[in-house]
Amino acid sequence: KYLQDDDVSQECRDLLPSLSSEQGWVGTTLHLYQGFWVGPRHLKGVLACQRHFRAQDTDVLLVTTPKSGTTWLKAILFALLNRTKYSGSGSQGQHPLLNHNPHDLVPFLELKLYVEQDTPDLASLPPPRLFATHLPYQSLPQPVRDSKCKLVYLCRNPKDTCVSLWHFTNKLRPKERGENSLQESLDRFCRGVSLFGPYWDHVLGYHKASSETPEKVLFLKYEDMKEDPYANLRRLAGFLECPFSQEELREGMVDEILRLCSFDNLSGLEVNKSGKLASGEENKAFFRRGEVGDWVNYLSVDIAEKIDRVGEKKLHGSGLKL
Ligand code: A3P
Repeated sequence: KYLQDDDVSQECRDLLPSLSSEQGWVGTTLHLYQGFWVGPRHLKGVLACQRHFRAQDTDVLLVTTPKSGTTWLKAILFALLNRTKYSGSGSQGQHPLLNHNPHDLVPFLELKLYVEQDTPDLASLPPPRLFATHLPYQSLPQPVRDSKCKLVYLCRNPKDTCVSLWHFTNKLRPKERGENSLQESLDRFCRGVSLFGPYWDHVLGYHKASSETPEKVLFLKYEDMKEDPYANLRRLAGFLECPFSQEELREGMVDEILRLCSFDNLSGLEVNKSGKLASGEENKAFFRRGEVGDWVNYLSVDIAEKIDRVGEKKLHGSGLKL
């Protein structure tokens, strides 16, 4: 289904001829809508979600650039916000993360909920509702920006993001189309033609929003999460106004969540070894190596410098280093 171009609304079909197009990563065409690149099937989800999503002040939205650790943060946020429901050794066996992929527990707005239905019934979900999106800040549904809902943003070093995206999209490509070469994928990434890219514009939009409204947007980096997950999970809990109590800290709740959501634990679960998402992707495609700096195994010094130079230009004056 990820590859289907035909399931698009009439509104979408009318819009497509006016948008710039490029060959995408998984074999479908990408279109430039409101300054970011998206496939036709997901464009339908974007339009429906922009039109119909009504944010609640208690909502939590995870926002990421694709391949920056979304699956990990979905698991962490789900475990964090539901920790009283599923804590204690007796109930650990039933924790939903043990038999559900994180993408099934924390759905994407524009890639799932508003693709499957134009107006999904989300109003009756119990608070705090937890959703995910890849939408750039300027394209979020207006009620998200107007409400007091919280945005947790996660980004990752562009070289690791690009290598991860290259591996992931090659797995999703139909066999008969062959694989994308790393070189052409890097060129596309540097030109900004990646899912919900340009990558740097995406990151900058949320970096700015986080500096202007730190109580609304928390800006996190995959590398920082990896380096000090304990401190960053506590920071996340504080930002979401559900800090760990002294008792929870004494009982080791922070480590319990981190263990549950660790790469080794999640990737070893049967559901993530053999399951599939409703949209067709195999769950195991979301778990590859989960390491910082894996790009050195793929990119030459020259190519790495090329990405760095694009980044330096884009990020100049922002104070942001990736
Ligand atoms: P690699 O391809 O570098 O291994 P996303 O979830 O946004 O699609 O990102 C996928 C990347 O996050 C992959 O990176 C994947 O291995 C990594 N990842 C998945 N689960 C993780 C976890 N629990 N901890 C750390 N990294 C994880």
